[in-house]
Amino acid sequence: MTSSTTLLTIFFIVTVSLLPFGLSSEPEGCSEPFVKLAQQRNISDCKRLRTLGAQFAWSYHSGSNSSIVLEIMFCATIDSQEGWMAWGVNPGKRAEMIGTNAIIGIKSSNGTLRVNKYNITKETKRGCSITPSELGFGLSNDTMTKMKEDNDVYTIYARLTLPSQVYNVSRLNHVWQVGYHIDENGNPLRHPTTLRNVDSTEVINMTSSTGFSTGQYRSFLRSVHGVLNIIGWGTLLPIGIIVARYFRVFPFKCDPTWFHLHIGCQLTGFLVGTTGWAIGLSLGHSSRYYTFHAHRTFGILIFTLSTIQMLAFRLKPKVTDDYRKYWNMYHHFLGYGLLAIIFINIFKGICILEGGKRWKWGYIGNLIFLGTIAFGLEVFTWIRFFVLKARNKGGNEVSVGVTKPKP
Ligand SMILES: *[C@@H]1O[C@H](CO)[C@@H](O)[C@H](O)[C@H]1NC(C)=O
Ligand SMILES: *[C@@H]1O[C@H](CO)[C@@H](O)[C@H](O)[C@H]1NC(C)=O
Ligand SMILES: *[C@@H]1O[C@H](CO)[C@@H](O)[C@H](O)[C@H]1NC(C)=O
Ligand SMILES: *[C@@H]1O[C@H](CO)[C@@H](O)[C@H](O)[C@H]1NC(C)=O
Ligand SMILES: *[C@@H]1O[C@H](CO)[C@@H](O)[C@H](O)[C@H]1NC(C)=O
Ligand SMILES: *[C@@H]1O[C@H](CO)[C@@H](O)[C@H](O)[C@H]1NC(C)=O
Ligand SMILES: *[C@@H]1O[C@H](CO)[C@@H](O)[C@H](O)[C@H]1NC(C)=O
Repeated sequence: MTSSTTLLTIFFIVTVSLLPFGLSSEPEGCSEPFVKLAQQRNISDCKRLRTLGAQFAWSYHSGSNSSIVLEIMFCATIDSQEGWMAWGVNPGKRAEMIGTNAIIGIKSSNGTLRVNKYNITKETKRGCSITPSELGFGLSNDTMTKMKEDNDVYTIYARLTLPSQVYNVSRLNHVWQVGYHIDENGNPLRHPTTLRNVDSTEVINMTSSTGFSTGQYRSFLRSVHGVLNIIGWGTLLPIGIIVARYFRVFPFKCDPTWFHLHIGCQLTGFLVGTTGWAIGLSLGHSSRYYTFHAHRTFGILIFTLSTIQMLAFRLKPKVTDDYRKYWNMYHHFLGYGLLAIIFINIFKGICILEGGKRWKWGYIGNLIFLGTIAFGLEVFTWIRFFVLKARNKGGNEVSVGVTKPKP
């Protein structure tokens, strides 16, 4: 059975090699037109933000009355008739949408651009319309302009006077966003809630010229969650099922190796998957204001059903029991059903992921590999079955242990 062990090793390598795909590196520097624009304002520090293709440039100096005078430029793409782009700071403990003092540039369908100030509250999140309000700091020279060099790219410039008791440039909670709808009064309406919209926050250290940011452990955990689940549920469990289907009785009878291998795969898969699942739950918990409902429900279903399958380890009837046949059927069908849900949920998870293309094709490649092996074994099973049947024709029955492959 060394071949199966080799198989297992190959899959481990294949899936582990997926890991770097998830660990997105810091995005590269700012675009040339944006850097030029910032330099016209004597702003030299610039960074590309992680999501929404946004870029951010800043400079600061201390003002009177122990304030910080912060100049910012923010650029993003609004590729719809009307829409808005927002940048804001959050004086609270966390870099998050609620509690943010936002500067929002609004593009009307008639082409006018203007900048308004908004307090973002819990009510905003609930979908109440927002109206301009005063912010917790001074704001001047706020303007929105269209970038000449790039289609649909807009920039906001603003000069903020931040009270230094509340804001600290070495760890500033900032938030950005882009939306594609405005109401009849020209105020912003809801933005989409894909992961990249949800993820558009960070804690920036403006004293370093690269704008070193923290608060990204979630995107790291998300990658770990994805990789563990793809290895656990998405790869090891299917391998365990292939082993059980083709090596238990027919076409290969590898008793009891198949059983050890099956249990080994399923148990490891279950443990690895459960770890990934637990990380997923904590991720869901930590993004307090957003939930990906279907993904979460499927995840809980997968954990529950696979726990039931794992109980088979202890609770399965003896081979000699009359109802073992029915129990086997139940165990198999639940297994195949579980597999279907797992595949669906892995792709659901990849859909949620920003830039999930590499994950998608990586996993599809993985599935094609598994599928080809399963298909090959399936074809071989049937050929072997018919050959044995033909050979035994007229003579004795098909030899013991050769059963028709089950669906
Ligand atoms: C930029 O800095 C230079 C030299 O430090 C100064 O002459 C110029 O007026 C500044 N421009 C702006 C827009 O502040
Ligand atoms: C500084 O603060 C004091 C009181 O807080 C205020 O009276 C004064 O006008 C402020 N000065 C400036 C330049 O903002
Ligand atoms: C908006 O929030 C700031 C502080 O975050 C507060 O000082 C200000 O009064 C708020 N404005 C309104 C209209 O609620
Ligand atoms: C800010 O606006 C004022 C007038 O509103 C103008 O005098 C000043 O030059 C502007 N400052 C910058 C840096 O654009
Ligand atoms: C800003 O934060 C840093 C690190 O947390 C701290 O060392 C510094 O004293 C803070 N500055 C102010 C003005 O609070
Ligand atoms: C464009 O539409 C906005 C409202 O969406 C309005 O406030 C503004 O006056 C309009 N501008 C022109 C030039 O019609
Ligand atoms: C911010 O960056 C500066 C320069 O890189 C560093 O000295 C400082 O410790 C950093 N502060 C925080 C709070 O990370």
